[in-house]
Amino acid sequence: MHDFEFKAGQFYCEGVKVSSIAERVGTPFYLYSYKTLTDHFLKIQRAFARLNPIICFAMKSNGNLSVIKSLVDLGAGIDIVSVGELKKALLVGADPKKIVFASVGKTGEEIAFAIKTGILLFNVESEPELAEINRIAVKMGKKVQAALRINPDVPAPTHEYTNTGSLKKKFGIDLRTTRQIFKAWKKYSHVKINGVHIHIGSQITSGAPFVGAIKKVIAFIDELRAEGIRIEYLDIGGGLGIIYKDENPQTAQQYADKIVPILEKTGLKIIMEPGRFIVGNAGIFVTKVLYVKDNGLKKFVIVDGGMNDLIRPMLYDAYHEIVPVIQNKAAQQKCDVVGPICESGDFFALDRLLPKVKKNDLLAVMSAGAYGYVMASNYNVRPRVPEVMVKGNKFKIVKERETFQDLMRGERIVRW
Ligand code: LLP
Repeated sequence: MHDFEFKAGQFYCEGVKVSSIAERVGTPFYLYSYKTLTDHFLKIQRAFARLNPIICFAMKSNGNLSVIKSLVDLGAGIDIVSVGELKKALLVGADPKKIVFASVGKTGEEIAFAIKTGILLFNVESEPELAEINRIAVKMGKKVQAALRINPDVPAPTHEYTNTGSLKKKFGIDLRTTRQIFKAWKKYSHVKINGVHIHIGSQITSGAPFVGAIKKVIAFIDELRAEGIRIEYLDIGGGLGIIYKDENPQTAQQYADKIVPILEKTGLKIIMEPGRFIVGNAGIFVTKVLYVKDNGLKKFVIVDGGMNDLIRPMLYDAYHEIVPVIQNKAAQQKCDVVGPICESGDFFALDRLLPKVKKNDLLAVMSAGAYGYVMASNYNVRPRVPEVMVKGNKFKIVKERETFQDLMRGERIVRW
């Protein structure tokens, strides 16, 4: 469900014509709907109301200040993965007591800054990291709280690169080591190990893998309790899948119906870390047709956006629906929608049926709100594109297009 739709042949984001935004800001650009964004957050909040969880938006999916501010204003916490994300979260007034920090490679500086900030939990991903957090906390004379990120070693039906809950992946701590750490908790004088964290992967559309992992972790927590070890928090991660093409993902309510009864019995404070579910379908990428070429074998629609702007099709073979922004009733034809980058992997769609398009037509690449802009690069010396947000009948630029000066900042021609 989202707020991008055709009205009288024109594609709208809420009350604003997408083509009119293109006229003002140029192409390509990312476009977010405030309503879709906040509706999805509220859907989770409502579905899980009985548990009153801390919903920490995974800002790695979309770190735009206006996006995170919109969610923080509704009570969201933030799931961070770097000190940069932490600083952005603080800029929009996120409550440190609703910030959780996962990353397999937290640096000493990042740990110290997070301690100084007073975040809720470090989601710890290895024993040496725990020792490092303790060492720094001792030095700073501060006590901190941590959850151990357990790698539950369960299958998650998703792309290899977004599957994190198997022992073949770098994430989390295996159960045996986790048990040993809990038993040796006294070693960590300044870290209260007060929770357990899991995140098994991303774009998981069915409930079963989550339920499996959660049950496994709860059995483990029961085992700890039997040994007299008590914890307060259970962070169940993110990973909820969305519709890109013809997926039939569980709704927030269906997810809640499955897991709330299980979670409720634990008496633990629940933390969630949804990213894509909230922002994925709240954003599109708008690009303009530059050329159409037919080499006898294939038709190519060459657009002004590229893999440096949206890398998901190349990196994960991800499917993103593509729609002409002005309704186009021309006959459909098969084509590759490709960008200007010097790589054969620079495509948004391969062998896609699209109505015949021509130079200057605008195309919307759908479901681009999550892991879109945040994964953009300057490859081929291309500036990052603007981000625009619509609320009702208004739109505002929430990040400007980079300039050539931005691209050159800090770069030097040295003389030896
Ligand atoms: N929590 C942790 C610890 C995570 O690593 C992630 C995502 C999330 C929460 C949020 O997951 P979500 O609810 O968004 O599925 N770039 C890939 C996705 C990478 C996911 C990274 N971790 C993509 O474009 O599909």
